[in-house]
Amino acid sequence: MGFLQRAKASVVAFGMAAVFVGCGGKASDPPANSKEVSFALHVQPIFDVMCVHCHDGLQESKLDLRKGSSWTNLVNVHADGDPMELRVTPASPGASLLVNRISGDSSLGTPMPEDKGPLKVVSPSDYEIVLQWISDGAKNN
Ligand code: HEC
Repeated sequence: MGFLQRAKASVVAFGMAAVFVGCGGKASDPPANSKEVSFALHVQPIFDVMCVHCHDGLQESKLDLRKGSSWTNLVNVHADGDPMELRVTPASPGASLLVNRISGDSSLGTPMPEDKGPLKVVSPSDYEIVLQWISDGAKNN
């Protein structure tokens, strides 16, 4: 198989894995050559740059997104704003307040980061990283 065909095949395989996860079925392992999103290497650095100056566990935003605290404060934890909602539901980005807040859609809650500082919005590629991390099961990896 040529490189392009292999690449296409892995995209298809990955898409199917995502569908299985979405249906609540058992997730099949992602193809060995797909790039796995790492919470420590890819997600936490986004929080470090854009979020921790407010989400430091000390200010009115109680959610602590500092390295070492963020994962336990997000995954399967009920939201302050709406106790019916989870901050992160593994494998369900659509049921994750974190995703709603960084989507830029204000009908889903005050968009984050709230200050509209120099980094006004989470970039599409950072948004994709968070989405992918949750779709992959929101692992502490
Ligand atoms: C300027 C300060 C500020 C920045 C920067 C900021 N936030 Fe927030 N955030 C808040 C405040 C204040 C609240 C609580 C009020 C609310 O829910 O809107 C909050 C609430 C949240 C909530 C809801 C928590 C809950 O349990 O209800 C999430 C999720 C969140 N922020 C994620 C983020 C992420 C991710 C970033 C970085 C991309 C970020 N925030 C950047 C101030 C900030």
